[in-house]
Amino acid sequence: MELLQDSFGRIHDYIRISVTDRCNLRCVYCMPAEGMEFAPHDEIMSYEEIAQVLKVLAPMGMRKVRLTGGEPLVRKDLHKLVSMISAIDGIDDIALTTNALLLDKQAQALKDAGLNRINISLDSLRADRFSMITRGGDVNKVLKGIEAATAAGLAPIKLNVVLMKGINDDEIKDFIAMTMDQPLHVRFIEYMPIGQASDSWRKSYLPLEAVTDVCAEAGWTVENTTGPAGNGPSRNMKIAGSEGTFGLIHPVSDHFCDNCNRLRLTADGHIKACLYWSDEYNVRRFVDDPDAMAALFLKALGTKPKNHEMALALEQKMQSHTPTVRRMSQIGG
Ligand code: GTP
Ligand code: 5AD
Ligand code: SF4
Repeated sequence: MELLQDSFGRIHDYIRISVTDRCNLRCVYCMPAEGMEFAPHDEIMSYEEIAQVLKVLAPMGMRKVRLTGGEPLVRKDLHKLVSMISAIDGIDDIALTTNALLLDKQAQALKDAGLNRINISLDSLRADRFSMITRGGDVNKVLKGIEAATAAGLAPIKLNVVLMKGINDDEIKDFIAMTMDQPLHVRFIEYMPIGQASDSWRKSYLPLEAVTDVCAEAGWTVENTTGPAGNGPSRNMKIAGSEGTFGLIHPVSDHFCDNCNRLRLTADGHIKACLYWSDEYNVRRFVDDPDAMAALFLKALGTKPKNHEMALALEQKMQSHTPTVRRMSQIGG
């Protein structure tokens, strides 16, 4: 069986599957204030269809699955999908990216179904600010979700902090301090202009040097580390002697596309070979035809560009392909 390789020789063994475009929050960088029109239920891939896709990809070298959204935990009985994926030969890592609002009640069932790890979006530790960024979310529910995930043995737990100038950059120190005596892995992420390169992005984008500056000011000794399990784009570090780590995900200031190992599947069944560009291939029509489906994935990889061009968007310069118009909530990050 042919490996999932693109025309630049990059092997793809990691797929991010969005299980829904719905979300119980409307974060400022992800959704418009008025909310979104969600895809009708019959346009969303069923769990059986998702499993069919993975049964085709596993013999082609797919090893890692990350479930994303929207918010994946709003989809009914997500643990059933995790069980189905666990049963597929070759898939050895199943992870979830969630806002954790509904995690409290689901953590144990997910763990029992075979979920290995969890990444949690948490952009502020301050209740009023968290509510402002998420347009109404309760940070205490997220903290409860983290506790439940820890109790269920879902480790490592990574926290995703999208850094925004003038919004949460004064919390860098607080987030790193959390890693000193807890096995938590904080990743600071550069705000990306996905979907619509809006004015808010231009105003709020902050390169991640801000994080190293804070460490220097605090007088902390920072060590590089391979960090916790995972093969995403984070460059990991720790403060000497700390229990947890922190990492930098810097797609805008210094892209990591040369090492890209990722494919994406949208909730409505479209393959996206790159997060940034508009090219998409509808896989749903081939759900009962494994050969045609495998060929479609190879076709998508064959047209995958070498890298994104977010920095050009920042400078408002011409780009070589067309950027996606999908919102991040429809892609899953
Ligand atoms: P692990 O390393 O497996 O823990 O996960 P991850 O960091 O790949 O996944 P997560 O869903 O936590 O994503 C963290 C951030 O990285 C999000 O903002 C994603 O949008 C971003 N990200 C993940 N993969 C890519 C990628 O291929 N390209 C770009 N530009 N950003 C990515
Ligand atoms: N830039 C950077 N990260 C983003 N995420 C969502 N939108 C953006 C953006 N525009 C993050 C979420 C989540 C992960 C899947 O992607 O916070 O943790
Ligand atoms: Fe891969 Fe595209 Fe992300 Fe670059 S932007 S790392 S090519 S998915």
